[in-house]
Amino acid sequence: GPSDLGQRFSHSAAAPARPPFGIAFDIDGVILRGRSPIGGAPRAIRRLYSDDGTLKIPFLFLTNGGGVPEHRRAHELSQLLGVNISPTQVVHGHSPYRELVDRFKDDLIVAVGKGEPGVVMSEYGFRKVLSIDEYASHFKDIDPLAPFKAWKVAQTDSYMSAKVHPSYDVFSERVKGVFVVSDPVDWGRDLQVLCDILSTGGLPGSGKGEQPPLYFAADDLEYQAAFPSERLGMGAFRIALESIFNKINDHPLKYTSYGKPNPFVFKNAASILEKIVMNMYPNSLTSKEVIDCQFSTIYMVGDNPKVDINGASKAGHPWSSVLTRTGVFRGQDNDPQFPADAVCLISGFFPRPVAV
Ligand code: G3P
Ligand code: MG
Repeated sequence: GPSDLGQRFSHSAAAPARPPFGIAFDIDGVILRGRSPIGGAPRAIRRLYSDDGTLKIPFLFLTNGGGVPEHRRAHELSQLLGVNISPTQVVHGHSPYRELVDRFKDDLIVAVGKGEPGVVMSEYGFRKVLSIDEYASHFKDIDPLAPFKAWKVAQTDSYMSAKVHPSYDVFSERVKGVFVVSDPVDWGRDLQVLCDILSTGGLPGSGKGEQPPLYFAADDLEYQAAFPSERLGMGAFRIALESIFNKINDHPLKYTSYGKPNPFVFKNAASILEKIVMNMYPNSLTSKEVIDCQFSTIYMVGDNPKVDINGASKAGHPWSSVLTRTGVFRGQDNDPQFPADAVCLISGFFPRPVAV
């Protein structure tokens, strides 16, 4: 009968079975510590590819970090891990900022953080972008401590954004939005300049004014970098900015934070994984069968219970969480507050602090 035919069709020998699961890997504290791969991470990632280099298991990187365009990160990770990672497989904390382009049209925005935050925002389509380095450089004496700073600000990022855009008159044009793209580099200056922008309606040195919208790519209090114990992340910077802003203004700071553990991040990652599966089966007949199927499980492999595991748990089906002992989490068993579905028994990655 017809149901019989349907059965045969969906199990046709010509159609390769679609993998029933996908994987989202956290980067810092799972794949990398600083710029060095952790333990068997490169080998684990290579196992997701066939010998001819094609993808066998759909996966992506779901990190709260960033600071460079996704294609740049994909290239760096490809080199570090020895496989061909596509830009689609990289989801940064700031990746959803590209959805906000229409809200800011020709507005001047300031991009904050390590790497090339201005380039990231320009590539997303924002038309008037200045990195905080370049923005601050227009205002003489805005940072009274600058003369005591031994370092020189790298001009690569601001140079790039200046090349894309004509110069702006920052003394008449108000900043209409502030985007913290990645971990701020010079906290002291950035706290000062952001308080200026946010308290004055986007014009440092002028009177009080309405706060322009402020976005954070993530809200990680701490994360695992190369140093043996956790480092302060963007969430710590947010706390510093918020407490100072609230002391010098009579209204509280307003902001929006992206990144894990927000459930929409996991929803978005699941739909990207669906696209990745589609690309694995370019044949249209197969694609139909692939479309009719869904992941029974998507694994979130992370090191931070509050961020990665909490996020996957809140996202619900088909997410399942795997907690590694290679980063923020160091417990013996499971995390008591945000227990994972599985805990990886990887250990021995923590050398004692080394005296230099
Ligand atoms: O700065 C990056 C950090 O906050 C988190 O990165 O890869 O552990 O989500 P990740
Ligand atoms: Mg991590």
